[in-house]
Amino acid sequence: MSNRQLLVSKIENGIVIDHIPAGKAFLVLKLLKQPSDAETLIAQNVVSGSLGKKDLIKIEGTYLTSSEIDIIAFVAPNSTLNIIQDWEVKEKRVIKPPENIKGVFQCPNLLCQTNKEFAAPPTDFKVETGEKIEETKLHCTYCGSTTWYGSILEKIKSEEFKIESRGLVSEAKIEKVFLEALIKGGALRFPPSADKPFILKSGRPSPYFVNLGALTDGESLAKVKWAFASYIALLMERGEIPDFDYVFGPSYKGISLATLTCEGLNELYGMDKRYMYDRKEAKEYGDLSTDRVLVGASYFKPGQRILVVDDTITTGITKVETIEKLRLLGDHEIVGLVIAVDRLERLGDKDNIEDMGAVEYLEKELKLKVHSIQNIKTIYSLIKDSLNEDMRELWEGYYSKYGLSKLE
Ligand code: CTP
Ligand code: ZN
Repeated sequence: MSNRQLLVSKIENGIVIDHIPAGKAFLVLKLLKQPSDAETLIAQNVVSGSLGKKDLIKIEGTYLTSSEIDIIAFVAPNSTLNIIQDWEVKEKRVIKPPENIKGVFQCPNLLCQTNKEFAAPPTDFKVETGEKIEETKLHCTYCGSTTWYGSILEKIKSEEFKIESRGLVSEAKIEKVFLEALIKGGALRFPPSADKPFILKSGRPSPYFVNLGALTDGESLAKVKWAFASYIALLMERGEIPDFDYVFGPSYKGISLATLTCEGLNELYGMDKRYMYDRKEAKEYGDLSTDRVLVGASYFKPGQRILVVDDTITTGITKVETIEKLRLLGDHEIVGLVIAVDRLERLGDKDNIEDMGAVEYLEKELKLKVHSIQNIKTIYSLIKDSLNEDMRELWEGYYSKYGLSKLE
């Protein structure tokens, strides 16, 4: 590596926006909604083979939304966006203006329906590009009005300019912060020594125990809220979870998770979802009949979509039973299940070990996609170095017997 490259150090997980036209880095940075404590490196006017001079931004622990990338394209076209995972460049793309841009710029025509005072549709422009970025024009798809590059740039530079969708957090950062919170709050526990494993309900002697119910302090709950909301927003941005109306948490532990998730999605990402949970024992009086079993269901409209959240899956069978209660709603769609930790374990008990894992069972039984914020393989790789020989043997022995695959 040449000395010049050492000017800016490598990052572990996050984004690098490279080949930014010299002098534009601060404008790009202003457009990105980064928390004030984000680890950020900015280099200005550094030597670049192709451009003469360039700017560069590196942000650890972040992930950009597609609307952020689209706007960057107007001020720093042909910059390269690198997504870094585990120190490696996982994805590289050249940032170009999108074909259409929705809901960001106002139409200059005051009579356009997008400028109506009530129930105006979000704006939608077709982007016309030329050889140079200055030749870019926007054409309103409602009224045909044209916006020239000068006014686009002026808007972007103005103080009030905001990109509606909030800044997303990278998966690696969510995993790391969440794991620390689980350990600190006592939701992820390890036995004092290798000869005293936790005996699970299944009878299996486990090297760890997950129980989100142990998180009862405000600081831990705030982290759980942040982790679930950030992870769900990321999955939605990537198209892995379609939009939904409700967050359902199976009682009892799922109740607080569902409420925290709804609150987090609202506070951090401006989404407005309702929560719902099931009563373990149906109420005998009052309310509408569905509400006696499903709290929150009185607002449900046929065809609405539900996301399920929970801490972990042990056998999967109880989850099938709870989710069956949702049939009371009539026409509905379950868009996915988000859990805190995937144990990556085979079904069965101490002596019976099936081929199938709980997640696969749920995906088969309920045709449901399961997403986990953390899984035990990642957790093991993060804690392994702090374990003694006996403890590592316990972990590896357990997973070669009950795991879907070996550890490492
Ligand atoms: N980078 C980083 N941290 C890493 C890996 C890469 O900050 N762990 C940065 C590099 O410093 C570089 C950018 O990400 O600015 C792209 O990395 P790479 O593709 O390895 O570099 P180049 O080949 O120079 O990229 P390009 O071909 O896009 O110029
Ligand atoms: Zn218009």
